[in-house]
Amino acid sequence: MKKIKVAFICQNCGHQSPKWMGKCPSCGEWNQFVEEELRETTQSAEIGFDEAPVPIGSIEDDEKDRIGIGIADMDHVLGGGIVRGSAVLIGGDPGIGKSTLLLQVMHYLAETGLKVLYISGEESGRQIKMRGKRIGASSPNLFVLVEISLENILKYIGELKPEVVVVDSIQTIYSSALSSAPGSVSQIREASEKLILTSKKTGIPSFLIGHVTKEGTIAGPRVLEHMVDTVLYFEGDSGHAFRIVRSVKNRFGPTNEIAVFEMKGDGLSEVTNPSALFLSERPTGAAGSAVVPSIEGTRPILVEIQSLVSETTFGIPRRTTIGVDHNRVSLLAAVLDKVCGFHLGNHDIFINVAGGVKLVEPAVDLGIVSSMMSSFLDRPIDSATVVCGEVGLTGEVRGVNQVEARIREAARMGFNRCVLPRIISSDLAVKEKMELVEIGTVKELLDFLF
Ligand code: TYD
Ligand code: MG
Repeated sequence: MKKIKVAFICQNCGHQSPKWMGKCPSCGEWNQFVEEELRETTQSAEIGFDEAPVPIGSIEDDEKDRIGIGIADMDHVLGGGIVRGSAVLIGGDPGIGKSTLLLQVMHYLAETGLKVLYISGEESGRQIKMRGKRIGASSPNLFVLVEISLENILKYIGELKPEVVVVDSIQTIYSSALSSAPGSVSQIREASEKLILTSKKTGIPSFLIGHVTKEGTIAGPRVLEHMVDTVLYFEGDSGHAFRIVRSVKNRFGPTNEIAVFEMKGDGLSEVTNPSALFLSERPTGAAGSAVVPSIEGTRPILVEIQSLVSETTFGIPRRTTIGVDHNRVSLLAAVLDKVCGFHLGNHDIFINVAGGVKLVEPAVDLGIVSSMMSSFLDRPIDSATVVCGEVGLTGEVRGVNQVEARIREAARMGFNRCVLPRIISSDLAVKEKMELVEIGTVKELLDFLF
């Protein structure tokens, strides 16, 4: 009898161990080891591409050959449309709209005459039909397959020869070659390997939907993100109607590009002017609100940062942030304390980025500082002023990139004054009517604003 090989595999990072462990030595997570049967090695002829080496000049490129989706922002996020043979992974919280978005994408593609296949392992045909009705997807070119068996999926892809494939979701796909349960690391790895390979070999682009863990990363092995060409994340909380699709990895375009959508009764609709949307509910003349022109990917977007700084009434001061990095806020509060002499140590600080946007670039530092100080001093910031700049540990204001683009967006939205780092403003070519205020330190910023 053949001996079955088993191993304990960390469900977080894929680390293998011959025995069960409480803590994974590789990623440090607790209680992640699950016993799984190891896969027999497949014959190499089956998995290889079997192509001879060729000079790079003689390889055809598909740059012109991208498939346009027709949702302008979605094309933008992908770097200019779908690349043939690519695999795109889309992650996001449950109920955020992954299935809806991809069904819409498939609907648009089908309308242009492409044969597309939507594979679902989560919903029944009826449920997909119901969703399709809401978003108006009824094209005869849109095929639906309800299936979780990897072998059957590959068979139908081979038979139908679609031009784009969606797999909703990769965690539900099950290969009978392995005995471990669907959703386990080995199954996810096997299913994605085979699907990605099929894409590469046949040139059919595939979209894989992935669940996320409670930490916000795509469930399953981290290698999944390495294997695919593009990783998109769906952001935004279900309390808001706004949804942001962000590219965090893209082999065929810039990363951190975003597309903004609004969830409506008939599916997701594109928001063509995100700045207007994020600023639409801005209070006028209220202390604690600052507007920053933030660069998301390659395009500038204006967002409002709100702060509430109030004296701690009980115990340890709280620092709560939504949309900006918690540690960054603590750091900036420390700078204000040490360099400018404002003692925030006995104050609670709450910071929120309006509209559910997540800001990651350091250029928003000045916005955080301004809104915190505005709330602390109870003095509103002039409503036609935007601020941008990175703050260093000694209170100096550091340069940011793409200043012209930021200023242009601010001017477009009716702002007439921009506070920016002194270092960069000497060689600026700004045509817009905009008063530029140069500052070198946080102290200068506060002197100017308040
Ligand atoms: P869904 O695409 O099922 O999310 P996911 O696949 O990421 O889990 O989105 C479901 C949510 O979207 C659900 O709360 C209902 C809402 N929704 C609308 O508001 N309008 C619509 O037209 C559709 C199809 C869904
Ligand atoms: Mg879904």
